[in-house]
Amino acid sequence: MHAIEVKKGIHWVGAVDYGSRNFHGYSLSPRGTTYNAYVVQDEKNTLIDTVKHGHFGTLRQRIEVALPSGKIDYLILNHTELDHAGGLTQAVELFKPEKIFCSAMGLHSMQRHCDTTGWPVQVVKTGDTVSLGKRTVRFIETRMLHWPDSMFSYIPEDKILFSNDAFGQNIASTQRFVDEMDRAYILSAIKEYYYNIVLPYSPVVLKILDAVAEMKLDIDTVAPDHGLIYRGKDAAFVLDSYRELALQKPKKQALIFFDTMWNSTEKMAYAIIEGLEQAGVPVHLFSLKNNHHSTVMAALADCGAVIAGSPTHNNGIMPHVNAMLGYMKGLKPQNRIGAAFGSYGWAGEAPKMIAEILASMNVQLPAAPIKCAFVPQKDDYDACLALGKTIGIALDAACKE
Ligand code: FEO
Repeated sequence: MHAIEVKKGIHWVGAVDYGSRNFHGYSLSPRGTTYNAYVVQDEKNTLIDTVKHGHFGTLRQRIEVALPSGKIDYLILNHTELDHAGGLTQAVELFKPEKIFCSAMGLHSMQRHCDTTGWPVQVVKTGDTVSLGKRTVRFIETRMLHWPDSMFSYIPEDKILFSNDAFGQNIASTQRFVDEMDRAYILSAIKEYYYNIVLPYSPVVLKILDAVAEMKLDIDTVAPDHGLIYRGKDAAFVLDSYRELALQKPKKQALIFFDTMWNSTEKMAYAIIEGLEQAGVPVHLFSLKNNHHSTVMAALADCGAVIAGSPTHNNGIMPHVNAMLGYMKGLKPQNRIGAAFGSYGWAGEAPKMIAEILASMNVQLPAAPIKCAFVPQKDDYDACLALGKTIGIALDAACKE
């Protein structure tokens, strides 16, 4: 077991979870993930965050390598979700820190998760600082990025920002730094993470990025709690990437997801693709029979249009499509154009119901929902093709605004 030096006297002491496929309880993590924790060696040796339950032994062994004394004086908890605080009780019992720093909401959460009786907790807020000896830690509350308790810890002497969940990616690897990996792979993982975890808090992201800019923090390393660490020019890269993701400017690609019973709705989807292609819009197509909701959500990062299809089933929407729409609505995507379609046997309510859900998400609907009785005929294919073209033209116009 080893510890990775991030800066002189600052080590990564986290755990790599190669087997993780379920992140935060609801999102896929197809590449695995890591639970990052860091130790700062100073007059007050400081542990920043812990790890998920079951990984404390790894954390402890890495700390022993990074700090031969094995002594932790201060513990900073940037966030109390259990993939970072799962090892908290064990850490407090083993290291008996002089102080534990967290936000006010962090204390509330900590008290609901752990028996904190006798714990030396000190609540901090934005602008508060604590001296470690040669270094200072400055705290920045980041409420709702992505929990009420979340905060950043910044060490100006090392120009390093410990950002907790923000800027993370779910990648389990032997590499610890972004510059050791392919940039496109990293960006794909950032988008997947952002669109499944951070997206609803995009207005908060923009405010925090502005606040960090106003503070004129000199940052050359961003150390998140999941995935790889950004150093050098990669620190600016991830801050810029987050601003772009948060702004959600329209992108000229379309996402179609659907479920189908006897392939009629699927056939409609292919005709809609043809219309989008004719309008010059690339398409990402997902059948919900064999794609997870978080995979579909990640694809939305590159798409300014979202088109959903479902046959009418028991006077409603097929279960996978209903679930996908519910998941997407909770993540609050903005600035999208969309449409709805689907086949039916004797009623045909589903496309209209889908359109209503899309409208409730502020998705603009330039075309009426289309439905097709049983099996598509020529006029149905023509209608689907026209729908694809209409969406494509509207998206092209939105991208030019
Ligand atoms: Fe990775 Fe919100 O915990």
